[in-house]
Amino acid sequence: MAKITYIEHGGTEHVVEVANGLTVMEGARDNGIPGIEADCGGACACSTCHVYVHPDWVAKLPEKDGMEEDMLDFAFQPDAERSRLTCQLKVSDALDGLVVQMPEKQI
Ligand code: FES
Repeated sequence: MAKITYIEHGGTEHVVEVANGLTVMEGARDNGIPGIEADCGGACACSTCHVYVHPDWVAKLPEKDGMEEDMLDFAFQPDAERSRLTCQLKVSDALDGLVVQMPEKQI
């Protein structure tokens, strides 16, 4: 279980507990948090689950694989350091305290 803070582009924060084994995208979807659309359902094929990871967390997350890197090129205003696709981030106790911010829009 991890407590994850999702911050909308406008600054509204949503703090929720997400079960281990789900993805950060599924945590947002299951809690009705706006700003993560996840059109492809988590197949790493749409980039509409894009977020900016809080700077403190960038180095603590598993590295992006090539598919995520490629897909992020299609995201809205990706940031080389902080952008991640939330469907590729698996929740575990290690992610407790994670903070992500949604972009102004998803493509
Ligand atoms: S949900 Fe489509 S790339 Fe993440």
